[in-house]
Amino acid sequence: MTFSSRRPAIFLDRDGTLIEDRGYLRHPSEVVFYRDTIDSLRRLKDRYLLFIVTNQSGIGLGILKHEDVERINQFVVDTLAREGVTISAVYYCPHIRDQGCECIKPTPYFVLKAAREFDLDLPRSFSIGDHSHDVELAKNVGAQGIFLLTGHGQKHLHELPPGVLVAENMEEAIDIVLKRDGPSQKKTGFIGKAAEIIKRGGIVAFPTETVYGLGADAFNPLAVARIFEVKKRPSFDPLIIHIARPSDLEKIVLNIPSKAKKLIDRFWPGPLTLVLPKRQEVPDIVTAGLPMVAVRIPSHPIALELIELADCPIAAPSANPFGYLSPTTAQHVREQLGDEVDLILDGGPCEVGVESTIVSFGEGGPRLLRPGGIPLEEIESVIGKVVVGAMNNEKVSAPGMLPKHYAPRTPILLDWREEDVANDGKRKVGLLAFHQISPSLKFNQVEILSERGDLREAAANLFSAIQRLDGLGLDLILAESVPEVGLGRAIMDRLRRASSIGG
Ligand code: TXA
Ligand code: MG
Repeated sequence: MTFSSRRPAIFLDRDGTLIEDRGYLRHPSEVVFYRDTIDSLRRLKDRYLLFIVTNQSGIGLGILKHEDVERINQFVVDTLAREGVTISAVYYCPHIRDQGCECIKPTPYFVLKAAREFDLDLPRSFSIGDHSHDVELAKNVGAQGIFLLTGHGQKHLHELPPGVLVAENMEEAIDIVLKRDGPSQKKTGFIGKAAEIIKRGGIVAFPTETVYGLGADAFNPLAVARIFEVKKRPSFDPLIIHIARPSDLEKIVLNIPSKAKKLIDRFWPGPLTLVLPKRQEVPDIVTAGLPMVAVRIPSHPIALELIELADCPIAAPSANPFGYLSPTTAQHVREQLGDEVDLILDGGPCEVGVESTIVSFGEGGPRLLRPGGIPLEEIESVIGKVVVGAMNNEKVSAPGMLPKHYAPRTPILLDWREEDVANDGKRKVGLLAFHQISPSLKFNQVEILSERGDLREAAANLFSAIQRLDGLGLDLILAESVPEVGLGRAIMDRLRRASSIGG
């Protein structure tokens, strides 16, 4: 499979788009970035080359000197660079329109220069700004323009020709960019196909900058269960949810501690996973019943594109069967999982090659759960001391080692005989059944894992069912065994663990 090597670009107006338009700027102290500028550009930085184009009529009018403009440009570029956003080049024009300045017509020289120098894909590129000439500029090179209502946008709105894309602010403009570019360019490609598979509940192996992941729609418990089935892991392991932008976090976590926010600003997209309190809507099978969820924004463009096109967060462990090393090429995945996945996206060898660093924000502050792609020193340089190792020196991922306070409070009994548990009416007893209930027994509450006796469906329902029963204040939960084949092994592992802890 081949991907076009040409890269799309975004040409960004400076004043009124990235920073407030405060007249003729001479000193960095006068520069005020809009609140959403940096976060918005971060969403683009690995997929688009970014350029600043700025019209400085102050030069033509003799109010500004070239040095003034260059000083401000440099300050903007440096500030963005510190935030992880690289500007490939800055172009400015004295913008003397009645003398036919070169920036717009007939050939906007700097855009074409950039296109040649950086091998740009102009039809997939955008120009964003708060003047109608920013939109015209785009039209003249076959790119797309987005008019912003920040800066002078409101004032110039009436000058716009019909049919122009208008956005309230940068964040909205970037939403438009990602929506337009994604579907129009990639719907028919492999990434689009992979996204369709994910939307329909399938599983796809895809590259990230760390290792290849095996992904499913994080909000589809059945699809997530299939990941465990394919990995043949004899126990459940909480999965990392992959998202494409920080705002997706709202769907997944309850809150973001300020130190976590700092790490996000500094390291996302990139090989850092944060473990944060989960929203109830996140299926329990994703977190293996834990109240915290692991989440990250990968930086691999194919991973980002896949998440964006699938239009859902993607839960993914590394794409290896139980007991194997994490795969760092598509070939590894083919050898290890081959026909068992619906599609393998090939993005070449992974750049980082080790899994992401995992930092948890549970009680007691930040904790390093797994060393990985981002060194601990770098993390500590942003948020200070981080405790190393899982709680009580237990490794959360290791079978049998889930911290005890995450286990159900109600005793669970696994090996039982009907005559032992005859309900005398004094105790409140619940049943966790596999697929059918014995009519001779009475229970205060029954949860059936899968009416049709399907292990995948049972796995998908397991954690939520246990949690529902646990929330009822019962004296005892009786659990039925399931056949120990396929996902049945992982279900039984979990039930044994829950029963030994609870009972
Ligand atoms: O680089 C990576 O992180 C790769 C790529 C595909 O993103 N993914 C990866 O996933 O290595 P996996 O499933 O092989 O390892 C994820 C680990 C789990 O084993 C567990 O230790 C930890 O993340 N984890 C996930 N959810 C957690 C949670 N809710 N609480 C604590 N630890 C969690
Ligand atoms: Mg793994």
